[in-house]
Amino acid sequence: MKKLAVYPGSFDPITNGHIDIIARASAIFDEVIVAVLVNANKTPTFTTKQRVEQIRAVTKNFKNVKVDSFKGLLADFMRQKECNIVVRGLRAVTDLEYEFMLANTNNKLNKNIETIFFMPSEKNTYVNSSMVKEAYSLGGRLPQCVPALIDKELIKKYK
Ligand code: PNS
Repeated sequence: MKKLAVYPGSFDPITNGHIDIIARASAIFDEVIVAVLVNANKTPTFTTKQRVEQIRAVTKNFKNVKVDSFKGLLADFMRQKECNIVVRGLRAVTDLEYEFMLANTNNKLNKNIETIFFMPSEKNTYVNSSMVKEAYSLGGRLPQCVPALIDKELIKKYK
């Protein structure tokens, strides 16, 4: 049977840290679905369509990676995809509490769900979408933290 995993997130925007996790998951699972959250309560910087397109473009070399979006509970999306493995990245200790809470809650909502954590390489440990956006919005650039396409789109966004 095909080993399928879902990597959910906001990806607003996708960073080299996310790509690091996608690469690791794609080497272990037969198929990885990168699932973009349709943020119902907050306005993201990039629309769902833009984020899906950006991720498709920057992951096109991973042949077993698909990109999709979801609304509502991740636990329901997992049922719909008939998948029980959630992939998440664990960067530093600061991620731990939130990630454990998320994994536990998902498991309470759908007891079949297992969350598997991947650690990014050291150079991607402190890469974070919010900080990247703050830097670009204030006129800075972090091309070492994001793919070239995202660097370009962030410059355009905050011009
Ligand atoms: O990249 P992020 O923002 O840390 O990803 C968080 C995400 C999208 C994985 C999480 O917020 C999520 O799954 N949201 C959907 C609603 C849900 O199922 N919440 C968790 C249980 S209440």
